[in-house]
Amino acid sequence: MTTIIDGKATSAAIKAEIAEKVAEMTAAGMRAPHLAAILVGHDGGSETYVANKIKACAECGFKSSLIRLESTPEAPLAQETLLEEVRKLNNDPEVDGFIVQLPLPRHIDEQAVIEAIDPEKDVDGFHPVNVGKQSVGLPCFHSATPAGIVELLSRYGISPAGKKVVIVGRSNIVGKPLAAMLMQKGTKGDATVTVCHSATPDLASITRSADILVAALGRPGFITEDMVAPGAVVIDVGTTRVPDATRKSGFRLSGDVDYENVAPKCSAITPVPGGVGPMTIVSLMLNTLEAARRKS
Ligand SMILES: NC(=O)c1ccc[n+]([C@@H]2O[C@H](COP(=O)([O-])OP(=O)(O)OC[C@H]3O[C@@H](n4cnc5c(N)ncnc54)[C@H](OP(=O)(O)O)[C@@H]3O)[C@@H](O)[C@H]2O)c1
Repeated sequence: MTTIIDGKATSAAIKAEIAEKVAEMTAAGMRAPHLAAILVGHDGGSETYVANKIKACAECGFKSSLIRLESTPEAPLAQETLLEEVRKLNNDPEVDGFIVQLPLPRHIDEQAVIEAIDPEKDVDGFHPVNVGKQSVGLPCFHSATPAGIVELLSRYGISPAGKKVVIVGRSNIVGKPLAAMLMQKGTKGDATVTVCHSATPDLASITRSADILVAALGRPGFITEDMVAPGAVVIDVGTTRVPDATRKSGFRLSGDVDYENVAPKCSAITPVPGGVGPMTIVSLMLNTLEAARRKS
């Protein structure tokens, strides 16, 4: 029987654990952790992600702040205005960690914005200092989505140690940092990792060799039954908005895995939604808690 890896329930349990720790902190006279978010423009997906992060802050007992910056084709946001907000948050002693919600409008240099964030407040784990520390196994803010996947596997008793992991997708926020984490020496790593991308020939022969297959491409239903070995663990990171007239919103979220046909074949699988997504938010909360503790 296939185990459905429930990221929603797991994240709820972790948020409750965090809330307990925050209650202990405030009972000891410390202030609650404070996460700030900068949101540029009105992208539908970004609005939802930020709203979910703010909701998670409330569930964990954190303080949250939202800084909204307008940007339209007629009046594009100046990069310097955004960098100024980043500097303000870097220097605000009341803010433990903050995120700049991505993607940013095309005219803004995303990497320059990431690099302007104080690494000690970079709770998304995107700053090169945190990325570098992560790759050499030093304490750091781990990139939120990979950290959520590692935690989810751990909570379901699925050890990557000695397993063959295949990751499809090599982005800086998912594929690369996840590979770095899973190949790290130690109980949550020790995997043999292969990273595939759009230039990988004969992808299916590689995905079929995986004990744990991670799909992070952003192509709905791309991983089909014939690409998965019987008994594999399948982690679906993809979240693409697909038009769906039957929904009030007009869309549904689709993963990168053909869930219906792949699920019966594997030993465990994450659904979309309700799999990796809620764990990403919980990782952000854990990083913010850690940032607040470091300052105390
Ligand atoms: N649930 C969550 O919390 C969460 C968090 C982050 C991202 N996501 C979702 O995860 C998906 C991936 O996000 P991302 O930011 O990592 O995407 P991305 O930056 O667009 O990267 C996609 C990766 O997939 C590879 N790829 C694309 N088509 C391929 C193909 N036909 N065969 C093999 N590889 C292919 C690309 O290869 P090249 O490098 O060669 O172009 C690239 O490395 C998206 O749906 C995103 O929404 C979800």
